[in-house]
Amino acid sequence: MKHYLVTGGAGFIGANYVKYILKKHNDIQLVILDDLTYAGNLGTIKDHLKDPRVEFIKGNIVDPQIVKSIFEKHPVDSVVNFAAESHVDRSIENPQLFLQTNILGTQNLLDTAKKFWTVGKNEKGYPVYREGVKYLQVSTDEVYGSLGETGYFTEKTPLDPRSPYSASKTGADLIVAAYSETYKMPINITRCSNNYGPYHFPEKLIPLIIKNILEGKKLPVYGDGSNVRDWLYVEDHCKAVDLVLLQGRPGEVYNVGGHNEMKNIDIVKLTITTIRQLMEENPEYRKALKPASPSTADLSWINDDLIAFVKDRLGHDQRYAIDPAKITAELGWYPETKFTDGIVKTIRWYLENQDWVEEVTSGDYQRYYEQMYGNR
Ligand code: NAD
Ligand code: DAU
Repeated sequence: MKHYLVTGGAGFIGANYVKYILKKHNDIQLVILDDLTYAGNLGTIKDHLKDPRVEFIKGNIVDPQIVKSIFEKHPVDSVVNFAAESHVDRSIENPQLFLQTNILGTQNLLDTAKKFWTVGKNEKGYPVYREGVKYLQVSTDEVYGSLGETGYFTEKTPLDPRSPYSASKTGADLIVAAYSETYKMPINITRCSNNYGPYHFPEKLIPLIIKNILEGKKLPVYGDGSNVRDWLYVEDHCKAVDLVLLQGRPGEVYNVGGHNEMKNIDIVKLTITTIRQLMEENPEYRKALKPASPSTADLSWINDDLIAFVKDRLGHDQRYAIDPAKITAELGWYPETKFTDGIVKTIRWYLENQDWVEEVTSGDYQRYYEQMYGNR
């Protein structure tokens, strides 16, 4: 049996990873550490909490005692760190929390793992680690900054973060790299592009647009909608993390991306037409429409007039695009889900899982929405 400590396992990508690992492997025990912030929802992984291969612990990755107690109780041999404050807009409002969780949390995990994994020292004074251990940092393409109309981020692209979020993720990557150099700790960093799929919190573009359409609300597009993101179906990201952890060369960074660049405005328009089409083909889906929406019988109101161009995000990165050649060449990874299929799968999932959306937005969400979009 292998023992993984998975942090952030109740969030969007972490929960999808937990599901992926439990389905794919039967020789892995998971300890999930998650502080259940607004973005973490135990309901997302409730079906797995009774699985004997899973233990859930509520706690903060910044807390040395909690992390230490996990290593004392479990023979952890891999750490996969998904836990983070992940939303750029929130980082613009409250940068400090991002530095605490994303940088100090990462350093705390590294430090505890280093202590528990060290079995001796070599002649030069470097720690020697237990066989088979590895720390994997789940990072983002945003650490590379912003591209013009052409070009791609490779692993050699200089780090150039622009937002408090991406600066904090870059800080985390640098401390991971420092533990690799200074203490020769076996690590990997994955840098992925924008994910989409089930369990995505509706503060991010795609699930927010779906939620607003169902409520008959305006669809806020920042600036002129020309910003480009490179979208990847979340399960393809999970597969990449699995491969890198098991087969990635220690010390290496791997970019993960879908070769699927889309302008925000095109994503929003595609979401509008797909929802309308699905509801026209399958009237059952109209049940997802909320009482505030104009009509469930005549769907002609679901059109581009819902789009509202609003004040741009401060320091809005123009374009992200990943070159995944390294992970493809070394580990045989490629994005399996075509965007045209993935977006339909995702929208269907939201139409069929409105209970989940209501559960995760029952807390502070309304206040957040008013604060973020009220004056735009
Ligand atoms: P998310 O916001 O949906 O989930 C984050 C999870 O971390 C939540 O369950 C939350 O409760 C938990 N968490 C937050 N602070 C914590 C703390 N201090 N201690 C313990 N748990 C804490 O984020 P996501 O979209 O699933 O992203 C996961 C990781 O992947 C992040 O590191 C993010 O930077 C990275 N990433 C995300 C994307 C994307 O498109 N969403 C792309 C590339 C990389
Ligand atoms: O690239 C990877 C990153 O992708 C991850 O590291 C982040 O954790 C993740 O949140 C995501 O960041 P983005 O800022 O790209 O994602 P978001 O969904 O917030 O925004 C996508 C694009 O849509 C971006 O250009 C801003 C725009 N946008 C977003 C929202 C929420 C809008 O136009 N309107 C909106 O209401």
